[in-house]
Amino acid sequence: MLEHFEKPQELFAYRLGSAMTMESDSLQMLADLEQAASSEEVKEMFRHHAGETRQQIENLEEVARVLHLELTDEPSPTTKGLAKEGHTLLRKADPSLRDDVAVSVALGTEHHEISVYQSLVATARTLQVSQVVHLLSANLDQEQHTSEELVAKAKELADARS
Ligand SMILES: [Fe+2]
Repeated sequence: MLEHFEKPQELFAYRLGSAMTMESDSLQMLADLEQAASSEEVKEMFRHHAGETRQQIENLEEVARVLHLELTDEPSPTTKGLAKEGHTLLRKADPSLRDDVAVSVALGTEHHEISVYQSLVATARTLQVSQVVHLLSANLDQEQHTSEELVAKAKELADARS
């Protein structure tokens, strides 16, 4: 691992490695949230996005292949922090609140993922490799779509209580 980045490509390679770790943390998080959620509908949302996440990991591997980069697992402290916070909230929440908590924890992860892919897509555009832009944009679109679904579900759960 490089200790000092001088070129955008070096930073890009590192962030790609962090994104791999982020997505594998995300897979674990989605499995935990599926288990924690009460309703079958919310569980299904997490199962569905876990399938997309596996595809996203393949997309990241493809990006590395196209750019001839060695894909290394780099740190992703944000997802570790989100998981820690999520587990604490789930532990403290009454079973009747588990869906609300699981959806809000997932939303936090999606927003982080969106910011990571927005940065990667921005750099990928400067590399001028359209296939890489396409692969990373596909991941970004899925995260954005998931985040919109989660916001709608959070609102639905809140409305059901009022
Ligand atoms: Fe995601």
